[in-house]
Amino acid sequence: MNKQPCRAWLPFLAEDVPPQCDAPVKVAEFELKTGCAALGVSAPELRLDHAMGDGYAVAVEDGKTVITGGDAGALYGAYAWLMAMAVGEAAPEGEQNPFYGLRMLNAWDNADGTIERGYSGRSLWFEGGRLSWDGARLRQLARMLASVGLNVLCVNNVNVKGEAAQLIEDELPELARLAAVFRPFGVRLMVSIDFSRPLVHGVGTADPLDEGVRRWWQERAEAVWRAIPDLAGFLVKADSEHRPGPFTYGRSHADGANMLARAIAPHGGILVWRAFVYNCQQDWRDQKTDRPMAAYETYAPLDGQFDDNVILQVKHGPFDFQVREPVSPTLYAMPNTRLAMEVQLAQEYTGHQIDLYAMNPLWRELADELPPGGVAAVAAVGNLGRDDNYTGHPFAAVNLYGFGRYAWNPFVEPENVIRRWARLTYRLPDTQEDALVHLLLSSREIYEKYTAPLGLCWMVRPGLHYGPNPSGYEYDAWGTYHRADRNGVGIDRTSEGTGYAAQYPPRERERYEALETCPDRLKLFFHRLPYDYRMSDGRTLIQRIYDDHFEGCAEAERMAETLRTLDLPEPERSEAFRRMELQLANAREWRDVINTFFHRLSGVGDEKGRKIYD
Ligand code: GCU
Repeated sequence: MNKQPCRAWLPFLAEDVPPQCDAPVKVAEFELKTGCAALGVSAPELRLDHAMGDGYAVAVEDGKTVITGGDAGALYGAYAWLMAMAVGEAAPEGEQNPFYGLRMLNAWDNADGTIERGYSGRSLWFEGGRLSWDGARLRQLARMLASVGLNVLCVNNVNVKGEAAQLIEDELPELARLAAVFRPFGVRLMVSIDFSRPLVHGVGTADPLDEGVRRWWQERAEAVWRAIPDLAGFLVKADSEHRPGPFTYGRSHADGANMLARAIAPHGGILVWRAFVYNCQQDWRDQKTDRPMAAYETYAPLDGQFDDNVILQVKHGPFDFQVREPVSPTLYAMPNTRLAMEVQLAQEYTGHQIDLYAMNPLWRELADELPPGGVAAVAAVGNLGRDDNYTGHPFAAVNLYGFGRYAWNPFVEPENVIRRWARLTYRLPDTQEDALVHLLLSSREIYEKYTAPLGLCWMVRPGLHYGPNPSGYEYDAWGTYHRADRNGVGIDRTSEGTGYAAQYPPRERERYEALETCPDRLKLFFHRLPYDYRMSDGRTLIQRIYDDHFEGCAEAERMAETLRTLDLPEPERSEAFRRMELQLANAREWRDVINTFFHRLSGVGDEKGRKIYD
């Protein structure tokens, strides 16, 4: 068990769930019993109505609270009710149903115990090439996931390396045991698979149209679902960043996905196929290829060709979880395909769980932009690890909590989510709680200001993805260019330029193409602009870049002051302070490097005479 008590948003995690809690409804009964005792409130009645599925209803009948729900729904209802009690609110009366049926967490854990883009320690369930876990800890985690309605956990990295391929082979019995840990909490497992696996087993090819390949996957699926009948499905990263895929055999991604989907369909499995496909060996001299266009070019022509149990998982932006990107045009382009939108809780480009970066404001913006009914599911790359508090920075838990809330209702107000998390996690006096909520609510905007400006992206240190290096990705093979020179910066992605904007439906296309309507925060994503271009508030582009960097850094310094006023418990207090010092150093480095970079190029000074290094 972890050394420090976990101060998660569930205030009644102290007692471990006993083994007889082998189904969500039994867990719900246990949580209500122990939770009510801890909170000093009388327990509500729990009624099971299978037809309600993940939904639940809370009603007060003759002064008594009744929670009715489907199997997992009853559990979600119990948690919702308990959390309302914990913050002293009235019973959340009425019926609740999740907006998205599939609410997935994708762990990027490797079999050797490392985590790709993991900032919270080693894996909670892999070590030395095998599955290995602390049962009490995983039950605690499962309770946290269930408390915010997350219902699928993909346990291994999309880049299936080393022994991870054994999960559906020799390691299957252990995977079945792991599934049994999460099952009572309504969380089903998923596995990332290696598309080329038949090759290792002497099939001679991994061509999706080959009969031998089809048979191999059918037989594998039979064995897998025999061991784990409720496995949610397979997740696949194919033809991306050197992963194998159908392109090797001249087949389309519909051919590849459908072959696997048909192997698992008889068992009720879903096949989640990632749309993160682009040329990662581009020549920077090539000005025609524009990386953000790649996913749309690959997938939009395939709309309607995927089987019903295929879900195409698309990153929220056309690049790769940058601080500011427009919504991916692929999410508008495939009305006849089941789509999942992928977000990233792991703060790869957003501060490594050192810098504060609460994500609900971003997700709310996405919800407002997405076409109605366009997306059927949501997935998040996880931010979990073996650290005592699971998420490295104690406040990074707000993103795990917030993702569950977002997946349940994407239109939930970010401020309400953050406040609820803060109140459940820490009992602070009102003014301090307000300060913490404000700190988190403004954290993304502040991070955006001191890092890459106005939708430019990719000014981070290559590989590491923390700290500034404005030209680090400029002459590289990743398709990540800003082409800053003495005259201006940015890539023209309008019809005059690469034509990327034309991948959007007319309304979005027109908005982004016209300089007057393209939002300032995305101007350099869509346009190449001279430094003296006047932004919508009359400032020049270069002045706006300087202002944002000076202001963002000053705001980070104010965040540090606010943090010092909070009476947080230990060890969170020391840990949050320690990380804040690192954040400040990072913010200062970004400010000075980016300002100097643009000052050297443009030769234009800061109107306000602030210090820019030569
Ligand atoms: C990014 C990230 C990789 C990851 C990839 C993916 O490129 O840096 O670590 O493998 O995204 O989403 O597949």
